[in-house]
Amino acid sequence: MLKGKKIILAVTGSIAAYKATYIVRELIKSGASVRVIMTEASCRFITPLTLSTLSKNPVLIDFTKSSKTGEWNNHVDMGLWADAFLVAPATANTLSKMVSGHADSFLMATFLSAKCPVFVAPAMDLDMFKHESTKSNLALLKERSVEIIAPESGELASGLVGEGRLAEPENIKEYLEAYFKTSQPLLGKKVLITAGPTFEPIDPVRFIGNHSSGKMGYAIAEKARALGANVTLVSGPTALVPPEGVSRLNITTANELFETCKEHYAEQDIIIMAAAVADYTPKTVSTIKIKKKADDWSIELEKTVDVLKWVGENKIDGQFLVGFALETNNEEENAHKKLVKKNLDFIVLNSLQDKGAGFKHDTNKIKILTKDNKKVEFELKTKDEVANDILSQVLIESGLN
Ligand code: CTP
Repeated sequence: MLKGKKIILAVTGSIAAYKATYIVRELIKSGASVRVIMTEASCRFITPLTLSTLSKNPVLIDFTKSSKTGEWNNHVDMGLWADAFLVAPATANTLSKMVSGHADSFLMATFLSAKCPVFVAPAMDLDMFKHESTKSNLALLKERSVEIIAPESGELASGLVGEGRLAEPENIKEYLEAYFKTSQPLLGKKVLITAGPTFEPIDPVRFIGNHSSGKMGYAIAEKARALGANVTLVSGPTALVPPEGVSRLNITTANELFETCKEHYAEQDIIIMAAAVADYTPKTVSTIKIKKKADDWSIELEKTVDVLKWVGENKIDGQFLVGFALETNNEEENAHKKLVKKNLDFIVLNSLQDKGAGFKHDTNKIKILTKDNKKVEFELKTKDEVANDILSQVLIESGLN
């Protein structure tokens, strides 16, 4: 679950700071990359050298790298780098600063810049932990979706016995693993998505294309990535920027789409084909610009490969295949025929009769028809929300949820 995850371990000034060494080791053993940030106070309990050696990365403490050259550590880059921000041990002081947004240290500025999930593992004496201030700070952080890794009970550094001892490093690691397992059900899964139009050349300056913007496929790619998948986006010509962390393979023609899918489909767990592929392509492509002559002009076309049908016919055991159908009439009947003919697990039906649905809009209205004859209807929604609905249905139908 933690393999390849980028984790910031933020260490604050508690006697439990020495346990950060074990936390780093647990995370690294699980395959995570760890970067440690320390507060000045924590450096009195454990040396940065120990944590930089174990994490194999320099420890960050201050905003400035070198006062002589003015080089600085970039808290924004650090915050955006991380898949998880873990404060362990988290003192009462740091919890309070996290609530008020008090950016008086590199650690706090990075916390305020981070977009990833945040975890705190409090460690303090039992009365500090029981104090109303601490309790309300933790409640506020929880309200803001910070994950609280509860301290354990036992003998504390003061000699008192009670709740406040930093959770054991192994339990902290297990907490993170469980979190990623539930929030990223597609972790470790490979997902291929096709998106956008295809352009079929007539001559060096003309082509046959369509109005697909690629927005639907790109939204699915982004969501699949957020759910932890390893995403390959096979994209026709669009102006869209590929979502972060997604590998994009550019294609122009239906035949290039076919060749690319043929090369990559076998290793995929889930394939979602949202591209608007030309069904016909010019039989011959002129190498020079065609001049206008007669009043009429016809171009001879030939069928392209139905890529979705080919993948359906060559589907590998356990693979989950989703297709789209854009219909103007007899929508459900036509979509159902495609579902069966192309051997799909489900088909997403767009009707051009629905206002706001289809090409170029930022919204879409879909129905999902499954191979076991279920029909799920959705309201008109943004394409991001529709992407969520499609992937939620994939999780349900494939049993991955
Ligand atoms: N598709 C494909 N390769 C093609 C044509 C379509 O992979 N050469 C895929 C699309 O990505 C979509 C699905 O097939 O997921 C349905 O596309 P659509 O154009 O609605 O249906 P067709 O099967 O082409 O049928 P028709 O044009 O007759 O409606």
